[in-house]
Amino acid sequence: FETKEMLYEGKAKQVFATNDENIVMVHYKDDATAGDGAKKGTIKDKGIVNNKLSNAIMQKLEKAGIPTHYVEEVNDRDTFVKKVDIVPLEVIIRNVAAGSFSKRMGVEEGTELLTPILEFSYKNDDLHDPLINHYYALALGLATQEEIDKITEYAFKVNEQLIDIMDAANIRLIDFKIEFGRTPDGTIILADEISPDTCRFWDKTTGEHLDKDLFRRDLGGEQGAYQEVMKRLIG
Ligand code: C5P
Repeated sequence: FETKEMLYEGKAKQVFATNDENIVMVHYKDDATAGDGAKKGTIKDKGIVNNKLSNAIMQKLEKAGIPTHYVEEVNDRDTFVKKVDIVPLEVIIRNVAAGSFSKRMGVEEGTELLTPILEFSYKNDDLHDPLINHYYALALGLATQEEIDKITEYAFKVNEQLIDIMDAANIRLIDFKIEFGRTPDGTIILADEISPDTCRFWDKTTGEHLDKDLFRRDLGGEQGAYQEVMKRLIG
C-alpha cells in the first residue's frame, strides 16, 4: 500500500489514508497524556513498544478467533490496519481492583475480583468518557444490541487470551481498555491498540507496575518498564 494524507491525529497516534480505501496506516508516537490531558510528556520509544506489542497480541487474538483490524506491520512505528468506524465505547475489563474502580468502590488496589467486570464508558473527551451501561449505549444509538452482544463476547475472549499471554511473561493482567470498530459491511472487529498505555500490568513476583501508571502517578521508570514488557513478550 502507498501512504497518503493524514486523516486524524490523536494523543498517541496518527492515522494516514492509503491508496486502498479500506486500509489506513497507524503511526505510533512517543507522546503521553494523563489525567484527561492535564499531564503531558513523552516516554522514549513508547511508540515502538506499543506498535510491536499491539501487533503481536492482535495476531495471537486473531488465531484464537477474535477478528482484529491488524493487516501488516510496516516498520517499528507504522502499521497498516483495516479502516473502521470506531464504536464510541471504551470497553474495560477488570480482573483485579485498581484505578478508577478502586476509587469509586472503595476497594483496595490489588484486590482480586471474584469474577471479571465488563465496563463501558462513552468515548467523549468533552464529557471525560463517562461510565455508562449497555442501556445508555442502546438509548443513545452508540451501538445495537447485536453489536453489544458481539463486543461483550469478544471482550471476555480477549481477557482469557491476554491473561494467558501475560502469565507466560510473569505478568499479572489487572485490567485493560479495548475499542471496537465496524468494517464497511458492518462487521465488528477489535481495533485501536493493546499496550502498556491501555492495560495495567503488574510483575507477578515483585508486584511492580509495568505500565502507564508509572507515568500517570509520577513514579518514574516508565521507559524501562515499557522495554521490559516488550522484551518479555517478543524478545
Ligand atoms: O482509570 P481506570 O481504572 O478506569 O482504567 C482502567 C483500564 O483502562 C486501565 O488499564 C487503563 O490503562 C485503561 N484506560 C485507557 N484509556 C482510558 C481510560 C482507561 O486505556 N481513557
